[in-house]
Amino acid sequence: MNKHIAVLPGDGVGEEVVPQALRVLEAVSEATGLRISLTKGYVGGAAYQKYGVHLPDETVSICQSSDAILFGSVGGPVSEQHLPKWQGCETNSILALRKLFKLNVNFRPVKVLPELHSLSPLKSEVVSKGIDILVLRELLGDCYFGMHKTVTENGVRIARDVSEYTEEQVASAADAAFRAARNRRKKVTSVHKANVLDTSKLWRTVVREVHTGFDDVELEDMLVDNCAMQLVKNPSQFDVLLTTNMFGDILSDAAAVLPGSLGLLASASLNPDGFGLFEPPGGSAQDIAGLGIANPIGQILSVALMFRFSFKLEREALLIESAVDETLRAGYRTRDIYQKGNPDTSLVDCIGMADQVVSRVKSQLAFTAATC
Ligand code: IPM
Ligand code: MG
Repeated sequence: MNKHIAVLPGDGVGEEVVPQALRVLEAVSEATGLRISLTKGYVGGAAYQKYGVHLPDETVSICQSSDAILFGSVGGPVSEQHLPKWQGCETNSILALRKLFKLNVNFRPVKVLPELHSLSPLKSEVVSKGIDILVLRELLGDCYFGMHKTVTENGVRIARDVSEYTEEQVASAADAAFRAARNRRKKVTSVHKANVLDTSKLWRTVVREVHTGFDDVELEDMLVDNCAMQLVKNPSQFDVLLTTNMFGDILSDAAAVLPGSLGLLASASLNPDGFGLFEPPGGSAQDIAGLGIANPIGQILSVALMFRFSFKLEREALLIESAVDETLRAGYRTRDIYQKGNPDTSLVDCIGMADQVVSRVKSQLAFTAATC
């Protein structure tokens, strides 16, 4: 099998974690006979510096001729936000890619390993019940791509963001959520604000309609304010959290903090044909960029999602995920998850963490080869 991947490291820690994720990707592909070719493209502030735009045509055509996009992160330091290089950086790059490639669903899995319970900001009696949530966020509707306008009427400034959902948009996200739930604990929680918003009323109705084709999956409705509360009070109740674009943006960050570090998380943004963009949602972390201490795990797990969703190679995805779990179980910690004074853990840098994952991938592959 041949696969072509567009590699867009972007800004900040993206330049550090993407090469480490590629080492894992190469270790898996070498041993499994998968032929991978990579083409690097510029995006975000890095692209602005070279081309004067955040998403150059060159980058778009690299993505168009690829089977998947491996994305790092975009965005600049807080103190430089006023510079043209960073103005509109995220919307011009990541939102433009979502729209261009019709990436309408976003998967953000959140899992807390028993060995890492102590890192979670929640009490151990809450975490010990187990947290394994798939946040599934609709990505092209709501107020993200509607009209945004600020006007002055009778001397008063008024800002408007139009929020819109079509029934097709809702149905497509709901279908993805029910299918995902079938391979998990078979429960979907549909999150909205149907006591107030028309977009949410349509959301609730269409999700229920799509559910009629999935009678093996349980569906519950939850208002977004209650959901925010439940996520911190009793996150174990959730399996698949299906939600609108804006609520999903907020809830996925709240869920992302449950494992203790954003650096552990991966995401997949997919279109209905399975083409996808894979990125750690943790951001460019400019405060630690260049220090070599970023956690590469979110980026490595994004490669696992690429194998699963775009290449339909589940075995390879599981191999990467279990190598990451084993590395964490063995006590290796980058600075974001290191707890001083714990004798069972060792502090590693970005490359050191990837070394551990790569060596576990290789030894698992050698073991499989020897036993087959
Ligand atoms: C995310 C980000 C983006 C979003 C920003 C950078 C536009 O917060 O992927 O969650 O709001 O979708
Ligand atoms: Mg966000």
